[in-house]
Amino acid sequence: MRFTTHGIAFEYEDVGNGVPLLLIHGFPLDHTVWRSQIEGLQTSARLIAPDLRGFGASGDAPDVMTMDDYADDLQALLHSLSVRQVVVCGLSMGGYIALAFLAKYPDLVKGLILANTRAGADGEQAREGRYANAKKALEEGASVIADAMLPKMLTDTTREHRPSLATFVHSMMARQRATGVAAALKGMAARPDRNEWIKSINVRTLIITARGDTLIPPGEGEAMRKAIAGSTLVVIPDAAHLSNIENPDAFNTAVKEFIGPLK
Ligand code: MLT
Repeated sequence: MRFTTHGIAFEYEDVGNGVPLLLIHGFPLDHTVWRSQIEGLQTSARLIAPDLRGFGASGDAPDVMTMDDYADDLQALLHSLSVRQVVVCGLSMGGYIALAFLAKYPDLVKGLILANTRAGADGEQAREGRYANAKKALEEGASVIADAMLPKMLTDTTREHRPSLATFVHSMMARQRATGVAAALKGMAARPDRNEWIKSINVRTLIITARGDTLIPPGEGEAMRKAIAGSTLVVIPDAAHLSNIENPDAFNTAVKEFIGPLK
């Protein structure tokens, strides 16, 4: 489906019945990374899954997209759909955006799912790496980023035994526009540290991590569980960074259990 605001078009899926669940994809991906949730959670939730600005079939990004900028786009989308409250589910960069969304629009959030993500900001070295990768993407295209990231997205076992899933993820990353990739990298480099702020979260929260995630290790999820009072942590087995697509049964079960009481 298409939605246009301030001259920028957004592509999104809006399917299923139940509590509205806003699915925010990570980097450098698009909403199709949620295909197993769109298929498996349709009878449990209304799934709203947009392509973030600069990704997929949504409009072009400016030079930098901050996490707040993405959050503003998502608020505009929900407003256009007359959706008053959602469970926000963000994976990785989607989690950074979910936190920005909660900070800016707390009244719109009835639940929070933070998957394979962290609350902290980048250190100096990571920030420099982001700027170097942004330059590289603009000069050489998104496929260089895709090649470098694939081994961290899925476990070795999955890449070896489920080549079609590996190809699906790699081609999703490689087809993204370099401008969108660079804008997100610069935005992530500029994101604030929310390690202290998350201690004030008082909305129902589920934290998902994966045993094989080397990009954002399980310790990050454990730290958020300790910081957010009343939150729950689920550790997905047999998965690396993209736990939602690598082990969708475990991921979807955790989400269903979490949203059950929110209906
Ligand atoms: C993501 O998967 O969204 C990104 O890899 C997160 C990051 O680079 O910090």
